[in-house]
Amino acid sequence: VIRSAVTGVGAYLPDNIVTNDQLAETVDTSDAWIVERTGIRQRHKVADDQPVSDLAFRAAQQALERAGKTAADVDLIIVATTTPDMTFPATATIVQRKLGAPVGIAFDVQAVCSGFVYALSVADGFVARGHAKCALVIGAEAMTRLMDWTDRGTCVLFGDGAGAVVLEPREGQGTTADQGVLGFALRADGTKQELLYVDGGPSTTGTVGKLRMLGNQVFKHAVINISEAIHAAAKAADVTIPEVDWFIPHQANQRILAGVAHRVDIDEDKVISTVALHANTSAASIPLAFAQGIADGRIKPGQLLLLEAMGGGLTWGACVLRL
Ligand code: ACO
Repeated sequence: VIRSAVTGVGAYLPDNIVTNDQLAETVDTSDAWIVERTGIRQRHKVADDQPVSDLAFRAAQQALERAGKTAADVDLIIVATTTPDMTFPATATIVQRKLGAPVGIAFDVQAVCSGFVYALSVADGFVARGHAKCALVIGAEAMTRLMDWTDRGTCVLFGDGAGAVVLEPREGQGTTADQGVLGFALRADGTKQELLYVDGGPSTTGTVGKLRMLGNQVFKHAVINISEAIHAAAKAADVTIPEVDWFIPHQANQRILAGVAHRVDIDEDKVISTVALHANTSAASIPLAFAQGIADGRIKPGQLLLLEAMGGGLTWGACVLRL
């Protein structure tokens, strides 16, 4: 059995850090409120002249290096982003050009904060069926570009960054001991659009728009939906929740992470959390947390990982893989 396996993980965060206290200078909020309600202490913010493709490119370079691959090996690039450089072309093709990767397959996936899990499932299909041998799956976002800086209910929650993984085929026995992606659960419910959306677009207003959110309703759906997807992905992968070594959630809010852990009966010590330092980086948050867990020595080869996310759409999902 051929499975697609993560062989390298990379991350990139823009240099500029904005603390809660700095935000409180221009928005009616406080460090105490933000920390208590969200766990967020700071976020990284892109420079005005730094496009998302640059964040993606740097994360991709690091992931390739860690996988022992070069740009010449890459035959598939999928970028999950909700803040592309341009309406078209896809950011993935811009990253391909910046990397100097050869002609291959490159496109973007738009599933907002669930984008990385969606993109990983698409890439898994290509790799496991033999259509790609070295795939880059990148989550890259400049969410600060979508903020209404007069709306304290949203502008304190988001940050910028990128994370990337390299996926390669690995032969296995077809058991849960195999390296690679073992199972997925993906969901979308378009009737919940009004809970979280951006109020612009090329075919409507002709503008980029600003992010709008009914925060406490999103919160309620997040815990319920993510918990269901975690159980479904574990079932698809034929593993049990206690077998999972590390949970790598989308980093929206520490209270959502804790709420999901409680509902699914996950030991909170098994949850990788970067929300304090990165805030919500949408599609980038899972690969950023993944890279952090590897860098600090917690996540090790051979371990069973569960990734999960929810975002605008609503979309949500989870993925089980063995590193
Ligand atoms: N600083 C100070 N006060 C604030 C701020 C702020 N930054 N933002 C809102 N408030 C005020 C509100 O105005 C409100 O005041 P009022 O009672 O006088 O009207 C009060 O705080 C409570 O507001 P709520 O919205 O009820 O606060 P809540 O406890 O729900 O926390 C939050 C708000 C943090 C947005 C929370 O609902 C949340 O995190 N929701 C999840 C949203 C999310 O993470 N979305 C990301 C995308 S989806 C995803 O990634 C899962």
